[in-house]
Amino acid sequence: MKFFVDTADLAEIRDLADSGLVDGVTTNPSLIAKSGRNMLDVIAEICDVVPGPVSAEVTATEHADMMAEAEVLAAIAPNVAIKVPLTPDGLKTCKALRDRDIMVNVTLCFSSAQAVLAAKADASFISPFVGRLDDIGLRGLDLIEDIVEIFSQHDAFETEVLVASIRGPAHVVESAMAGAHVATLPPGVLRQLYQHPLTDKGLAAFLKDWKATGQSILEQANERKNAAE
Ligand code: E4P
Repeated sequence: MKFFVDTADLAEIRDLADSGLVDGVTTNPSLIAKSGRNMLDVIAEICDVVPGPVSAEVTATEHADMMAEAEVLAAIAPNVAIKVPLTPDGLKTCKALRDRDIMVNVTLCFSSAQAVLAAKADASFISPFVGRLDDIGLRGLDLIEDIVEIFSQHDAFETEVLVASIRGPAHVVESAMAGAHVATLPPGVLRQLYQHPLTDKGLAAFLKDWKATGQSILEQANERKNAAE
């Protein structure tokens, strides 16, 4: 399963990319607004840091205007994935961009029917929003399970299921169990995945016992090296 990070904050992206666990980045107009920065600059810098797909969303709502914006965004770097909303114009734009081999992430998916349309439009990624479905009293993960099941029955559908609007580690684990291809994680959620109190407690006990021995792995290695010379 690939991990994307869901942010336009360069400091966060640099820090998390350093872990070696980040396969891509997703942004949206709200995240760009939150960064307080010029969109084209931010996307270019993110593409320099992360070689995997970096989603940059069009803000136009009509096909011709979406295509014009997509031209600009796709020219930033080869790893830009153009993000389009799940509307008739968005999917028309998706198909046109895919015919030119440009990656496309179809966003704002809230139903299996919409996901099937995106796959028909040859989207590279479909982004179902689990958290926003949970917010209205539905189980967002049901949608992920349904889409993964549908796509698994149709070899012609090459679209990857990119779980978006993730609110916590449970969403990530359940998405992995459902067989989703990608999860896009807010930085805080990615950090939460590392955490378990028994890990902290166990490590503290190991280090205490180790310290009491007075031993050092590197010193012992040096001693062996010196003895062999
Ligand atoms: C990612 O592509 C989406 O834009 C994002 O995950 C939405 O998350 P939110 O529902 O927390 O805003």
